[in-house]
Amino acid sequence: MTQRSVTRTTVGIVGGGPAGLMLSHLLARAGIDSVVVERRTRREIEETVRAGILERDSVRLLVDSGVSDRVLREGHEHRGIDLRFGGTSHRIDFQGLVGASTWLYPQTAVFVDLAEARERDGADVRYGCADTAVVDLTSDRPGIRFTDADGVGQEVRCDFLVGADGSRSMCRQEVPEPERRQFFREYPFAWFGILAEAPPSAPELIYSHSARGFALISQRTETVQRMYFQCDPEEDVDAWSEDRIWEELQARVAGEDGLRLNEGLIVDKTVLRFRSFVCEPMRYGNMLLAGDAAHTVPPTGAKGLNLALADARVLAELLERAVRKNDPDVLDEYSPRALARVWKAQHFSYWMTSMLHRLPEASDFDVRRQLGELSSVVESRAGSTYLAEAYTGWPSL
Ligand code: DHB
Repeated sequence: MTQRSVTRTTVGIVGGGPAGLMLSHLLARAGIDSVVVERRTRREIEETVRAGILERDSVRLLVDSGVSDRVLREGHEHRGIDLRFGGTSHRIDFQGLVGASTWLYPQTAVFVDLAEARERDGADVRYGCADTAVVDLTSDRPGIRFTDADGVGQEVRCDFLVGADGSRSMCRQEVPEPERRQFFREYPFAWFGILAEAPPSAPELIYSHSARGFALISQRTETVQRMYFQCDPEEDVDAWSEDRIWEELQARVAGEDGLRLNEGLIVDKTVLRFRSFVCEPMRYGNMLLAGDAAHTVPPTGAKGLNLALADARVLAELLERAVRKNDPDVLDEYSPRALARVWKAQHFSYWMTSMLHRLPEASDFDVRRQLGELSSVVESRAGSTYLAEAYTGWPSL
């Protein structure tokens, strides 16, 4: 076998999505070097349509850490959302309730900003790598072996290894089964997501409960909109013509106020299956898990990306302390601190999902109860405040 080229670094990061790149960026600011190894090409990541809402502190992190302030120029501040049920909209006023906003700014744009910042700062990020494997995990010099985009065998040796390699994480599988607990919840529905060339239908997002199931009216730009409707996990996108999609979406937001969505050419159709998942702990020796590698949430409430960025922030802070003090025990704090936020987000995503979606076997009782729950939220300052607080994001500690 030909000789592998070996690179030595302090933190080896598997995964160049938002969690991995943000971590690498924050570490660099603290003077700590890292190497990022990513399976996909930059182009592949940029072309994947993902969620679009950033919490207040995610925006602050991007701007204050010097990634980019593009979010403030090109993103859209949303000072609330509409919960729609019984055919009318009820605004949750984030600013009035908790003095915070969210920003509509797609994950793809976050990735582009992070990738550009890493390139600008001369980081070592390898995209398009194959056959990635972790070696000598329990030693004090764990490694990442892979074949780079040019087909050359590579090895990265590090002090700390981070698995930020997404929901199908290879790194997570390296933790021996007795050392990890996994928590799952499946849902009997999925989202049918579209991108449409049309002007926005509303100034903010609309989360709509309806007899036909949930719909979410989101946005991307002045001319492109993102919308979703609850569907069967096995739904075939090709069975849905443009007319049928618009009819379904219109029916799910219809009401006495006469709300109509602006229709247009549908340029993307995908079914997003979802589930809740947590792997505990998020550390195994000198390996730390971050982002989707450790947890996934159902999309309702858009917490996935925000959790990934929050993990990166906590992990960067602790790795910096561990390196400075030459004391890996500092990392004991990581899992409990990250998981405290993860479980709050799990609850919030589960709650939003179950309050707004129609279960396949839903009885009239179940639907009336959901309407009672929605009324309790929108008619009560306490109820609305919980939603506003969770949606805009718990403060970073
Ligand atoms: C979007 C996705 C979400 O899951 C959500 O809750 C809000 C917005 C989006 O893709 O725009």
